[in-house]
Amino acid sequence: MRGGGRSEWPMRREVLRASGVAAGYVEPVVKEANISVEEGEIAAVVGPTGSGKTTLLLTLAGLLRPWRGEVLFMGRPLWDQLPEARRHIGVMFQNPDDMFFNSTVRDEIAYTAVRAHGPEKGLEMALNVAEALGLKPLLDKQPYKLSGGQKRLVALAAAVAHMPKLLILDEPTTYLDEGASERALAFIRALRDGGAAVIIATHDLELVCRIADRVYELRDGVLLPSSKRSRRNLCICS
Ligand SMILES: Nc1ncnc2c1ncn2[C@@H]1O[C@H](COP(=O)(O)OP(=O)(O)O)[C@@H](O)[C@H]1O
Ligand SMILES: [Mg+2]
Repeated sequence: MRGGGRSEWPMRREVLRASGVAAGYVEPVVKEANISVEEGEIAAVVGPTGSGKTTLLLTLAGLLRPWRGEVLFMGRPLWDQLPEARRHIGVMFQNPDDMFFNSTVRDEIAYTAVRAHGPEKGLEMALNVAEALGLKPLLDKQPYKLSGGQKRLVALAAAVAHMPKLLILDEPTTYLDEGASERALAFIRALRDGGAAVIIATHDLELVCRIADRVYELRDGVLLPSSKRSRRNLCICS
């Protein structure tokens, strides 16, 4: 499915493990999710619209309490480690407008990095990420006035600028043209190859084929590792 990366991490630690997790709002949408992601690995979560991918990701990110089951981050219950663990977790929301709250793209991208690493280092990290994603011309603009694709790249930059151990990306390539999508993909791969654990929810099967190390399917509220056969069908592009 892809080359490089993983072999450079022979002693990979498990970053996130969810066991028997049920997640939802007025009632569980996700009834049983088991998933594990290690350092230097990308796990894709696929499933139909409304199947609960976003709900699951919010739960794995510690933003929604599970109805039952356990979410471990670096071997310990995630909820016991909040808010400190947030500096090691990056989340890109499906709708970037849900996460923007700064008046400039620069401040939006730098916000978490500055809190995690201090003003000087944090800003430097943010500018490096902005450069890598081609966002430098947008730094003084207001985030909510950008195009859909630009917003998504800014949301990605804001999620990763602090170099999280765990990166959670909800539909990261929606609205991106080919060039922007390639930049985002290369960037996500580089983070993975640097040791980050990445979870991506997506409809984009080409994205799954190109970068996922593990694939999970969410069907009828149950998250299961994709079978080899099902994965072959998903990845007819490869
Ligand atoms: N904030 C919310 N409150 C109540 N129900 C919600 C909320 N967000 C999503 N849902 C419902 O949960 C279900 C799963 O949604 P979601 O997790 O967004 O699925 P997906 O990301 O796979 O499209 C849907 O039926 C949706 O209507
Ligand atoms: Mg969704």
